[in-house]
Amino acid sequence: MNDFCGNDMVTLKGIEKDSLDFLFDVSRKMEEIVNARTRADILHDKLLGLLFFQVSTRTRISFESAMKRLGGDVVGFVDPKTTRVGDYYQESLHDVIKVMENYADILLIRHPQDGAPEKAASFTDLPVINGGDGYNEHPTQSLLDAYTILREKGRLDDLHVAMVGDMNMRVMHGLPIIFGQYRTKVTFVSPANRTMPEAWLNEFDRVNLEWNEQNEIDSILDDIDVIYLMGTETPSYSKGKTEAGSDMTLTPKPYIIDQEKLIKGKKDIIVLHPLPRTDELPMEVDSTEAARYFVQTKYGVVLRMALLALMLGKEP
Ligand code: CP
Repeated sequence: MNDFCGNDMVTLKGIEKDSLDFLFDVSRKMEEIVNARTRADILHDKLLGLLFFQVSTRTRISFESAMKRLGGDVVGFVDPKTTRVGDYYQESLHDVIKVMENYADILLIRHPQDGAPEKAASFTDLPVINGGDGYNEHPTQSLLDAYTILREKGRLDDLHVAMVGDMNMRVMHGLPIIFGQYRTKVTFVSPANRTMPEAWLNEFDRVNLEWNEQNEIDSILDDIDVIYLMGTETPSYSKGKTEAGSDMTLTPKPYIIDQEKLIKGKKDIIVLHPLPRTDELPMEVDSTEAARYFVQTKYGVVLRMALLALMLGKEP
């Protein structure tokens, strides 16, 4: 059953296994369109409204690709400085949503403030997608991460996943909620000052996730099926490296996944990363069997095609 039709996708809290399995089944069908490098006309009469209050490479472009692969189109802004949000008026989120709802059929919002997409959804009856909000959540990233694991490992049950990096990052929060619906165990690997916030651990308990925390990965590498990697140093979401006035801090060695570490792991271990990367994932890993972070971006398109079609009530 299509539980996505007409609803928002602002959080994964409360999502159920049946809905996930259904979304992943539809994603698999969408792969045929992408693999054939063709386009369908399922969404030929629909427009996706982009509201990017923060920059993006993958989220924005993969959603644009997904919409256009299905025959739809996109309108909107990719930099608020080019709109009245960024000038003297500093137009409010409320007013921007009330205007954009007349220009599009579904809205995708990325915002530096936690909770902004949920707030946006309260201003409109259109379905709203969270493209990443502050340090809160990035639900479609987590969905595509889970779909990548499903496709590359053949299952989402009975795995042991190491999530490595800064647990404050928004990509770290939705994926364990998905794992809670399956029998997958998670170990959060981070420095002591980058551990998973208590509120999220409580969410994971609510979905009966089996989780552990530790500050190094070496002692469990021989039991890990999937490494989900991020840096340990949180970059500014609003400033560039030069603008921020400092060089990116180097990742401490325990949190760098390089060839030397992967050799100690299982033969079929895989590495996912939402990208962009810094030094936690050296380019030497790209040529290993474990690297899955570029095919992950392809799965991002198919998962987002499925999500757009289902949210707009156009089940293929
Ligand atoms: N993974 C991800 O969200 O990338 P972007 O910031 O480029 O969208």
